[in-house]
Amino acid sequence: MSNYLHAGFPSARLRRARKSPALRRLVAETTLSPANLVYPLFVLPGEGRREVVASMPGIERLSIDGILAKAAEAEALGIRSLALFPVIEPAQKSLRGEESANPEGLVPRSVRALKAAHPGLVIITDVALDPYTTHGQDGIIDESGYVLNDETVETLARQAVAHADAGADIVAPSDMMDGRVGAIRDALEAAGHSNTAILAYAAKYASCFYGPFRDAVGSAANLGSGDKHNYQMAASNSDEALREVALDLDEGADFVMVKPALPYLDIVRRVHDTFSVPTFAYQVSGEYAMIRAAAANGWLDEKSAVLESLLSIRRAGACAILSYFALDAARWLNED
Ligand code: PBG
Repeated sequence: MSNYLHAGFPSARLRRARKSPALRRLVAETTLSPANLVYPLFVLPGEGRREVVASMPGIERLSIDGILAKAAEAEALGIRSLALFPVIEPAQKSLRGEESANPEGLVPRSVRALKAAHPGLVIITDVALDPYTTHGQDGIIDESGYVLNDETVETLARQAVAHADAGADIVAPSDMMDGRVGAIRDALEAAGHSNTAILAYAAKYASCFYGPFRDAVGSAANLGSGDKHNYQMAASNSDEALREVALDLDEGADFVMVKPALPYLDIVRRVHDTFSVPTFAYQVSGEYAMIRAAAANGWLDEKSAVLESLLSIRRAGACAILSYFALDAARWLNED
């Protein structure tokens, strides 16, 4: 026998467990199901409106009627949760993003419609000012363009209460201001929303992979050459992500998010191992665009690429994944 065979051979032959699809399924350490997926939706004002997003083929901005149809489709496929991102009309954008806290704004109206039609779905809303500001930053800026932390936090707390008043199950601050989770928790408690959960975008990196999203919500042009490096995290850092998560949990976050997903799987793993709290990951717009583009060129098999990437995010420790592929993935998972 060859010297290259290990000492345990032939008692240990790992290929035995890989012999058939059924056996491989039996010994799988990680699973992926539609219930692990959150479907993000871009909401337009008005009725009967749908617009394609050029950098996200297959994804459309939809008015509330279209959102309700997508919700029905998602629920039928076994998806249990939606995340909403508004596309705000330029006329409603302002320097300080006041529209963000309007109780009759696009997000509260969408939440009410969704909760009325699909009470079983978990509705997640994004808490941040970027869709509402004329400069596309996530907060209120000073004359130099610097995002002011404490002023922004006050506005975010009002925005979160408006979402909770409308019936949002989970509010998800994605702004990366310091202290916002605590302020939002206090404001929710004061408004009688003790059961509204907070999903903190705790480790949110300053990433080029958000590019297509900024096209989708129409904040790219407003942001121009601006960037978000003085509040979102640097790609170089991992210990800092643990500090962010520790602070957010301390301030009252129920769940934490790592974002983007695939380039930051090491962070998902560390966060989950360190804190043992429900850890979400966001397969962001650029991750979606990459796979779609490669598949459109015939360079990758789309179904395999999508399911492998989602499974790897689960394997890293994420319980739930926000993904623009949620509907396709659920369909494929239900077929298998
Ligand atoms: C905004 C927000 C962003 C995303 C979710 N919420 C963009 C940003 O921070 O510029 C990105 C999601 C994606 O790329 O799919 N606060």
